[in-house]
Parts: sequence; structure tokens; C-alpha cells
Amino acid sequence: MPTPTSPARPATDEEFLADFLPRLTRPAEELDAHPDPAALLEAVADLGRRAVGDPDAFFTQQYLLSRIYGLHTQLPTGPTAETSTVLHAVTRRLEQDTADAEDSWIDPALYDGMPDDPAAFVAWLKGVAREHPVFKHPYYHRFLRNEATPDDLRRFVLQESSVDSRFDDLLAAMQIGTDGVTKMEIAKNFWDEMGNGNPAEVHTVLFDRIIRHFGITDEELSEHLSAEALLGGNLAVLICRYRGLFAEAVGHLAIAEWLAPDRFSQVLHAWQRLDLPPDGITYHKLHIGIDAHHASAWFAHVVKPMADSPEARRAITRGALWRLNSSGRYLDRILNLV
Ligand SMILES: [Fe+2]
Ligand SMILES: [Fe+2]
Repeated sequence: MPTPTSPARPATDEEFLADFLPRLTRPAEELDAHPDPAALLEAVADLGRRAVGDPDAFFTQQYLLSRIYGLHTQLPTGPTAETSTVLHAVTRRLEQDTADAEDSWIDPALYDGMPDDPAAFVAWLKGVAREHPVFKHPYYHRFLRNEATPDDLRRFVLQESSVDSRFDDLLAAMQIGTDGVTKMEIAKNFWDEMGNGNPAEVHTVLFDRIIRHFGITDEELSEHLSAEALLGGNLAVLICRYRGLFAEAVGHLAIAEWLAPDRFSQVLHAWQRLDLPPDGITYHKLHIGIDAHHASAWFAHVVKPMADSPEARRAITRGALWRLNSSGRYLDRILNLV
């Protein structure tokens, strides 16, 4: 018996992307005049169901979401479907499925262990991170540090571009609606990203020089990221763009900053071992110092004061675990590709 499918639904994910992606750079009105938006949404929902356990569907899902987020995070060079209501529905389906999948990696019993006391909660959260398999992951501590070739570093930098090439914009999006000490902490972090006012030391500029050194092309940046790298970038945008996920963003950033100095030490070691260009030394050395400061200030001035409500503690933990788990799968993936 044939499977009932809508005639508007393409047979393969490739066909779906080939039909849908060009619509993103057409006026919103055109997408809103789609002949069968219900079938379109069902195709996206189907992708979400298959993305759990099917690497190709997972890649398509994250690739599609990253393309849509591009409309919300980059200035356009032509028409765009950014404001389409159909696109909003598609985006929400992708986001909800991505969030649900990420939640499924968290053991719900973990939340039972959260202490009520804010100071104890901070210590507990660091303990969770310290005991997580991603802490001192072998990709950094064994492979990058001692074994990686310049080609491996090139691959690493390419995958890291999903977050590092736009970290300042993520902070800028995250700070909307905050005030007081929290806004000040984000502002200090943002100013560090801006090279403290020195254009040559803006972090995204330094990172871009590393990209250029390796001869990484725009085509590679847009087409050669792994599903896990795309997910890392998408999760960061997701938690920064919705005010309702601010506490998740707080937990996510806390872990990202807290893990960074040790990770960057391993990258710096590789950089010096391979005698790679000085821009990379500057970029990685810089982060070893400032991210340690960002992490301790963030835990003390933002996480701890927020952690006086059970809802906030749960959401901060959720964001932290999204970061730990997705980073673990991302690093496992690159290590397996080597
Ligand atoms: Fe930075
Ligand atoms: Fe930082």
C-alpha cells in the first residue's frame, strides 16, 4: 500500500532543501503565498522525527535552521523572507524539535540534585561540568595538544566558526532586556570582544585572520560544517534570541566561558608546536586569561543572584547541560572524523 504523502511534499530531503532554500531569499509575501503551508510544516515535522537517530535528517534539520537564522543574524544583500509568517511557523517547528532533542540528552533526575542555596548551586553546577565526559575531552587534551597536524587545526577552526565568528553578536542579542549588574557583565564581555576599542584586536577580526591564514573559503564556511557544529551555532542563536530562554543562555554562557581557558591552552600548545602564525597565538592566549575572568565574574555576579528561584536554577542547569552535551557530541564527532 503506498504511503499517504501530500503531493506538495518532496520525496527526499535534498529535494525539500532545493525547493525551500531559494524561498528564503525571495520576498516574504511569496513564501506566505505558499500553496500548501500545512504540507510544508508536516515535511519539517517529519524531518524532526527522523532527525533523532538519522544523521542525514539531523544534518538537514540543522542546516535548514542555520540558513533561516542567517536571515535574522546577517544584513541582507537582497530580498529576504525574514518577516514571513509561514517561515516563523517553520522556524518554531525546527526550534522546538531541536530543544526537545537536546532535552532528551538530559537525565531528568539530575534536576533533583540542584541545591536550593545559590552559592551551593554554583558549586554544584561546576561539579556537574567537572564530572561530565566533555570536561578535558581527549580531542583537546590528547589529540589537538600532541597529535594534530596543520590540516587538523584547519578543520578545527572551520568547525569552530559556527560560534567564534559571531560571538559578539550573540552577546549583543543576549543582553536585550537585561539591566544592572547583568547588563554590565555582558557589556564588559562585549568590550573585550571589541578588543577594548582597538579595531585590530576585535576577536572576530582575529578569528577571521586565522580563517584566511588557512585559506578557508566562504563556500567551506557555509557548506562544510558538521551537523554538530551547526547545532552548536543554532543553539547559541536560539537561547539568545528568545527572552524566555535567557536563563538557559546564562547557564550556557557560564559553561562556555568556564571551559574555554583550559581548551584554549591545548589549542595554544598545538599552535606553538606546529609553528602556526602569530594571530592564532594572540587569539588563543587572549582567551586563556579573559575567559577565566569572564567565567568567575559571570558565576558570581549573574548566575548566583539569579539562582534564588527554583525555575531559574532549572533553566540555568538546562542551558548548561545543552552546552555540555552538545559540545561532547561535537568533539566526539570531530575526533571520529580524524
Ligand atoms: Fe572572544
Ligand atoms: Fe569570554
